[in-house]
Amino acid sequence: APSAAPSPALQGRHVLVTAGGTREPLDPVRFLGNRSSGRQGTALAAAVAARGAQVTLVHAHVEQAVLDTLPGTVRVLEAGTAVDMERVVRQEARDADVVVMAAAVADMRPASVSATKLKKSLPQPEDGKPAGLTTVELVENPDILAGLVSDPPRPGQLLVGFAAETGDSHQDALAHGTAKARRKGAHLLAVNVVGESLGFGDVPNAVVVLDHQGHEVTRARGTKAQVAEALVDLVVQCLPAGGR
Ligand code: CTP
Ligand code: CA
Repeated sequence: APSAAPSPALQGRHVLVTAGGTREPLDPVRFLGNRSSGRQGTALAAAVAARGAQVTLVHAHVEQAVLDTLPGTVRVLEAGTAVDMERVVRQEARDADVVVMAAAVADMRPASVSATKLKKSLPQPEDGKPAGLTTVELVENPDILAGLVSDPPRPGQLLVGFAAETGDSHQDALAHGTAKARRKGAHLLAVNVVGESLGFGDVPNAVVVLDHQGHEVTRARGTKAQVAEALVDLVVQCLPAGGR
């Protein structure tokens, strides 16, 4: 049963949650983005706050209507790009007992951001390099979660990642999740198996939670609120006793 009552293990604990999808600007009017609505991360922030934790949500482009579902006690900060989010998360994580990276952070960003709107056709430059919008050069963004694992801002903090996976011609979705859990090294990785209409948007959700060795810890399915409750239960179990 969902437990809205405060959990002693969460009383006074600081929990940092990220949500939404970063947008990486190309020019003043365009960006590279993704389909994350931020609903799962927002539901988690609400669920953990309802259990008595002190919650900070760092969000990238989560609609106001979604943010409005949060209790007033949640501190809400904005970070629109991966680089912004890395800075805000590194800062806020110094004081967090738990960090849940539910945001979809863009892996790449445009190598340069044009100060003026790019045009679909530009005169071909002499060096033969493509101009305008036919080719966009990308550079890798920082991996925020990997950085928290390798260089923890607060020793002993619990790190939780999320991964949306699909099967492909090499492996099924869960096998990708298992490999990622080992590679990422977070304490927990919630793997969301993305089906045709499952996973994104305001639809029921299914996650398999793996530990850092890729072993299954638990499964949860249902609404994003139900999945959030199950994940908060797990966080409570994983927190060392004793408080701050
Ligand atoms: N993540 C992050 N910083 C990034 C990319 C991802 O912190 N630059 C975090 C996400 O918030 C999520 C976890 O890492 O909690 C897994 O993200 P995912 O995109 O599934 O993993 P990647 O290692 O980027 O692998 P993939 O090639 O499948 O995108
Ligand atoms: Ca990624």
